[in-house]
Amino acid sequence: MRILILGGGGREHALAWAVAKSRACTALFCAPGNAGIAEVAECVALPVEDGAAVAAWCAANRIEFVIVGPEAPLVAGVADVLRAAGIGVFGPSAAAAELEASKAFTHAVASACGAPMAAHAVFDEAGAARAYLAGLAAAPVVKADGLAAGKGVVVAETMAEAEAAVDAIFAGAFGTPRAVIEERLIGEEASLFALSDGVTVVPLGSAQDHKRVGEGDTGPNTGGMGAYSPAPVMTAAMTQRAMAEIVRPAVAEMAHRGTPFVGVLYAGLMITAEGPKLIEFNVRFGDPEAQVLVLRLGSDLLEALQAAAEGRLAELTLDWRPEPAITVVMAARGYPGAYETGSEIRGLAEARAIEGVTVFHAGTAERDGAVRASGGRVLNVSATGTSLAEARARAYRAVDAIDWPEGIWRRDIAWRALERSS
Ligand code: AMP
Ligand code: GLY
Repeated sequence: MRILILGGGGREHALAWAVAKSRACTALFCAPGNAGIAEVAECVALPVEDGAAVAAWCAANRIEFVIVGPEAPLVAGVADVLRAAGIGVFGPSAAAAELEASKAFTHAVASACGAPMAAHAVFDEAGAARAYLAGLAAAPVVKADGLAAGKGVVVAETMAEAEAAVDAIFAGAFGTPRAVIEERLIGEEASLFALSDGVTVVPLGSAQDHKRVGEGDTGPNTGGMGAYSPAPVMTAAMTQRAMAEIVRPAVAEMAHRGTPFVGVLYAGLMITAEGPKLIEFNVRFGDPEAQVLVLRLGSDLLEALQAAAEGRLAELTLDWRPEPAITVVMAARGYPGAYETGSEIRGLAEARAIEGVTVFHAGTAERDGAVRASGGRVLNVSATGTSLAEARARAYRAVDAIDWPEGIWRRDIAWRALERSS
């Protein structure tokens, strides 16, 4: 089968790495890809958010199956265009991608199906939002509705901070002036991934990531500086509970609305004293969470994604390796603010030679025979081990083998999980 993956980050390298191992994969393309992906796939330049252009390229290149990595093409309806053109595609319709595109929509779906979420209210007008804040006993979480690349959420420590966040939203800082004001949930965060064919839902494992740029989870938010799987807080019983109370009801509600969810549903959860509560849904694999999930999957990923796309998940059983996995993000100095590109990265072969280590590329490009940084998050140095401590030691040995003076990374990925087990 001839396959195209859309995207060019560490998540897509992880997906390409796993798909390339499948017997059914006869040719693999990736748009735009990166220097690491180029080792397992042919990288092509395509406007990935333009469904008609992607479909035309697929027809010309006899592509039979497309795997969509990031949310932007999904929200733009690329999966719909491909499906209408008769091309197999893994990824939800634009209507189902609303679960990520709109927090107000997610709240409506969760309310309709009884999935536990924070108490909340949605406002289209600043005066009403401020009046609501005035009636709250504790500082809430203020979110801009819509995609804001992780920057639209303020977990307010004080009421003044909450008011400032509301003012920013209605000043138009995040596009649509719509605010979601939520009760602040207390507990431990974890992510649960599930494959859905619209009807049947199969859990894909759990992970925790580190969103802040600095050690000790300090500093500005990023796309994620590292992750590990499984999340210790997601015991088998907690996973079962979250599947039964949140993920399966939401998938059933989407089917009931006539917009079935086909793809990977990523539930951001808070594990509170009362049980799991939904913080948000994403409609794609996490980045860097996909990197740790694929390292733990024993089954053929391509078969699983195809089964989801074709409504055959009821026939599927997945094997998982018991070893935990970790990934450490190496980013360009300055990230998540301004950073430079073009610096040379050496030592990748030495890093990869370490037992249990896989290096996924994110923002890299090859130029003049050298691998160079071309983005904010640049490498995902990943490892498995018999314990999380061993996996982490291997990953950091690999990080130390990489010669890239322009890089920054955290040395404390998985600190919470390791503290818990010691
Ligand atoms: P979101 O973009 O909805 O994932 O929010 C970003 C981050 O804000 C989450 O990963 C949480 O750490 C935090 N957060 C969001 N909603 C809540 C909430 N209701 N209570 C506590 N923390 C939250
Ligand atoms: N690592 C967080 C995300 O992919 O949304």
